[in-house]
Amino acid sequence: DKGNHRHFMVKEIHEQPEVVGHALAHYLDLARGEARLPEGLDFAKADRLAITACGTAYYAGFVAKYWFERLARLPVDIDIASEFRYREQPLSKDGITMVISQSGETADTLASLRYARSEGQRIAAVVNVRESTIAREADVVLPLLAGPEIGVASTKAFTAQLAVLAATAIGAGKARGVLSGTEEASLVRAFSEVPRLMHEALKLEPQIEALARELSKVRHCLYLGRGTSYPIALEGALKLKEISYIHAEGYAAGELKHGPIALIDEEMPVVVIAPHDRLFEKTVSNMQEVAARGGRIILITDPAGRDAAAIDTVETIVLPAMPAAVTPLVYAIPVQLLAYHTAVIMGTDVDQPRNLAKSVTVE
Ligand code: F6R
Repeated sequence: DKGNHRHFMVKEIHEQPEVVGHALAHYLDLARGEARLPEGLDFAKADRLAITACGTAYYAGFVAKYWFERLARLPVDIDIASEFRYREQPLSKDGITMVISQSGETADTLASLRYARSEGQRIAAVVNVRESTIAREADVVLPLLAGPEIGVASTKAFTAQLAVLAATAIGAGKARGVLSGTEEASLVRAFSEVPRLMHEALKLEPQIEALARELSKVRHCLYLGRGTSYPIALEGALKLKEISYIHAEGYAAGELKHGPIALIDEEMPVVVIAPHDRLFEKTVSNMQEVAARGGRIILITDPAGRDAAAIDTVETIVLPAMPAAVTPLVYAIPVQLLAYHTAVIMGTDVDQPRNLAKSVTVE
């Protein structure tokens, strides 16, 4: 039931504060300021974490790589499941493999799980569908508790994946002695603010819809970001191409001058995802390179970023200020809304985009 929403996708976008709040309440003890690690995952002893998934779930894993490396000092290999399963990489006995899948049935992700098992790894599965094959075959299941996701383009499952992965990374940081109790508590507090911040982001929908009118006229679009905003740029580009069929590419902002800058002209909008964090100044220089070539910039940032950017943008989408660790969950929302409204304006079938299936059970 779509309720009073026009599509399942936009209904699910609006469900995210609640869905993420639910996942966070399950994986974080908000009162005690602690992360609850699932039983059977010994992050203290692990020497490496391999994360593998497809599509949007892969981008959630890509964000998690930054969290696990920074908060838990645990080296992470991230790979697309269709590559992971065939590469015949050696996996150590003390390693953990984490597979991420909304449906729990994705053929390449399941095959990757089985490969990791054959290498003697401990397997954790972040899944939405509890009765799925991937959930059954994993050693440890981390459910998303997001409820059924109907829209083919994944939205609430993505942010729920981020919530579960963030909580797990915090727990791993504590278990590995990297985070003190105080640091853990302050991260837990920061994440407990995410549902409220997501509500604030959803309020920007009218501005984003107006912007989508412009975006619906273009044929190509670039998304840039650094740090955890890089996978959010990749996810933003994937969402736009999936449902609006506009050609979109996500790049690490630092890669701009190594190739994609050749594409920049007046016809090429560039969506820049850049909270005012320790990498912001670097991204500003990338924006200057774009602006100097007539590229049209849509900047997604916060008040400090808006003030510091000093650049001619087509538009700036201003989210509230927030701790750096939580930005991926909140910045996902404007990126999803931009894709959604662009597609609606173009008149595509948003919930059932052409050529796509919700569950990809063949490779
Ligand atoms: C993107 C999308 C796909 C899925 C991918 C993995 O909007 O929906 O890229 O994320 O097919 O699916 P799951 O998570 O079910 O393994």
